[in-house]
Amino acid sequence: MQKITLDEIDLNEELVLARPVILGTGVKGFSSGVPVSETVLAALKRLGFHEVWVRGKDEQQVHILSGDDDEEEADQLSKTEKYSLLKNDIAVSLADIMTEKDPQREMLRIRNISRGAGALMKRGALTTLDPDRPPSQIKALKIFSESVISVKKLEKFQSMCYDLIEKEFAPHEIDKVQLNLNDNRIEGSYLFNHMANCGLYFLATLQRYNADLKKKGAVSSELKYSPGFDHKKRKETLFFYSDEEVMSGTLAAFMHDVGYLHDGMAEILFKDGRIGPEEHNILKKHVEVTMNVIQYHIFFTNRPLAKTTIENHHERLDGSGYPKHKTKLHTFAKILGMIDCFDSMVIDRPWRKKFSRAKVLEWLYDSSEVKTTPDGTIVEPMFDRDLVIAFEQILMLYEVGEVVDLYHVKSTDPIFKCVIKEQNKGRPDRPVVELIKCYTDPNKQVEGKVLNLKNLKDLYLGESTDFRKEPIV
Ligand SMILES: [Fe+2]
Ligand SMILES: [Fe+2]
Repeated sequence: MQKITLDEIDLNEELVLARPVILGTGVKGFSSGVPVSETVLAALKRLGFHEVWVRGKDEQQVHILSGDDDEEEADQLSKTEKYSLLKNDIAVSLADIMTEKDPQREMLRIRNISRGAGALMKRGALTTLDPDRPPSQIKALKIFSESVISVKKLEKFQSMCYDLIEKEFAPHEIDKVQLNLNDNRIEGSYLFNHMANCGLYFLATLQRYNADLKKKGAVSSELKYSPGFDHKKRKETLFFYSDEEVMSGTLAAFMHDVGYLHDGMAEILFKDGRIGPEEHNILKKHVEVTMNVIQYHIFFTNRPLAKTTIENHHERLDGSGYPKHKTKLHTFAKILGMIDCFDSMVIDRPWRKKFSRAKVLEWLYDSSEVKTTPDGTIVEPMFDRDLVIAFEQILMLYEVGEVVDLYHVKSTDPIFKCVIKEQNKGRPDRPVVELIKCYTDPNKQVEGKVLNLKNLKDLYLGESTDFRKEPIV
């Protein structure tokens, strides 16, 4: 099983789809096992797909199942596929909250509303955050935001989020969660898919982090607000986040970039080709626009935590972020900033190729290391290491059944071709693999040999290297 771009597909190789192709409405476009024929290939291209999971016709199909021996389960989707479907449903719901079901039409509609709002409000009202806005402008912004975000649909979306918090991503379930979200993004739905990915990554990472806090003896953050609480002790007390707070952060993560849909930004973001420095500066304004769309919306009036999470999602602990170069950030903003970077770096953009998931995780590790300069000054990193570790716990880098090259630390060329057999919890970069062939000595009989990379630090997969300083446990 391999993920390859549509242009790389050789029709003579008799490939079949290794995973279903989902069309974004929760309905499978093509089931797994469907032969990749000229017609299927043309249809995929027409639908805007860039890459698919394929396997050889006779190659065994590998399933990652939540239950083992249940026969009915064997026909069901793998866990990865289930999360992909869930993520697609969420992406569609997010587009739906914006009144239209079709994301492309939605963008057009919103662009038109934006133009109307431009006349209604003073120029620049959407791109500036003004604490002293005149009441007339606040009223105009409120009308605008409630016209672009449906209150009723957001309520429905919220109850779906409660469901996720209580079931699939509940603290006692979070140990089982490993996300490898489908990154097949049909043209025009990029933003909704990105926000859906970020929401799910955010929720899982936060719940993972919450579980770690509880293990350390943290008490519920709701205690902070109780009348009997000793506020002098507040600084020394470790708190975990309540479901209500988790909900505020999750909603923020799902909505964090809606500003891109307004004020002419979508045209820049989705244009073909390189985005110039001036255009980048315009795009940076999406934070202010998102805040203006969210903060006057009736749904977010009593959710200050959602607002600060969105407002600071591009700020970094070392002050290199924007718009205000803040360094003191709420945990939620730190998580959203980190997973937002991850999700945008693992997909192709018109101006650059995507980075491998392992490479981006490596970068997150590097960017969360506290460094000391030769003169002894401590340099704060961009991200929080504890949160990178929490994120790593819920991330799946390689799928079972995926074919990957295996390298030795001392060589730049791959040594073995192998297939992923099993995950090692908490070490997504070091799964158990089965060798397929030896590149350096093709006559060497290695087929079927199983290696647990957790115990073999000199070997690494794909572009990933051993970037952790901590011992493997
Ligand atoms: Fe953003
Ligand atoms: Fe984003």
